[in-house]
Amino acid sequence: MTRVISVVSGKGGVGKTTTTVNIGTSLAQQGHEVMIIDGNFSGANVSQHFGLGFQDVSLNDVLNGDAYITQAVTKHSEGVSVLPASVLDFGANAENLKHSLVEFLGDKDYVFIDAAAGIGDEVQASIEASDEVLLVSEPELPSLTNCLGAKKIAEQLDREVIGLVLNSVRGENSEVDREDVKDLMETEIIGEVPDHPHVREGIALREPVVSYRPDSIVSAKIENVAYRVKGEEPPTRGALLRAKMKLQDINPL
Ligand SMILES: Nc1ncnc2c1ncn2[C@@H]1O[C@H](COP(=O)(O)OP(=O)(O)OP(=O)(O)O)[C@@H](O)[C@H]1O
Ligand SMILES: [Mg+2]
Repeated sequence: MTRVISVVSGKGGVGKTTTTVNIGTSLAQQGHEVMIIDGNFSGANVSQHFGLGFQDVSLNDVLNGDAYITQAVTKHSEGVSVLPASVLDFGANAENLKHSLVEFLGDKDYVFIDAAAGIGDEVQASIEASDEVLLVSEPELPSLTNCLGAKKIAEQLDREVIGLVLNSVRGENSEVDREDVKDLMETEIIGEVPDHPHVREGIALREPVVSYRPDSIVSAKIENVAYRVKGEEPPTRGALLRAKMKLQDINPL
């Protein structure tokens, strides 16, 4: 049974695409069949995270009835199938997303839809095309309150909320206390991903950080989220691996 999960945040720029791309890649590394769809037609970014360059045929063509979904899908070296949106053509018929997907779900364990920012039609189309919703927020109030708005839309559309990923965590005192986050959001925090230069290095090299730096502390945190999305407890990591992760942080290059 394929799980279709949209990743939403309300506020823009908080790490939806980074989270989607890395959780998806982590699940593929764990042996699952994964597809990532760029549901952000007004600001397509998924293909850049995977170093896929410009596509002749994109999701926009599929949604506009000009191409088959198989023509638009490419595969990354980590085994993730990627369905990129066009970077320059914004005229996709987002309402067709759900129905275009159905025929293609067969062999996939997980389909992630990287949603746009906000709570407009484009985001609602991503949520409607999914069965479950994963929330992403930074641990500060403006981000959390917008995320709460996105959660409300998901609930109005009767989608199951898996939980909240706190991204770009710095451990600063200014961050909202986790108890307050839980009170406000009324959902489980299923992982905390640190703000880390390895993430930005991966983006610069067009490689998800879990692939670029699999032994980085940030990759371990993302892997933990991937396990929790599966409904499993993350593995405990041995002393050697933990030492390796620590050393990578001291010598990032
Ligand atoms: N955990 C992290 N550590 C360090 N930098 C991060 C992290 N997460 C995100 N970033 C930085 O934030 C930028 C924005 O992230 P991303 O594009 O994933 O956000 P988004 O929510 O998808 O944005 P949009 O709303 O525009 O789609 C990234 O390009 C990267 O530079
Ligand atoms: Mg994005």
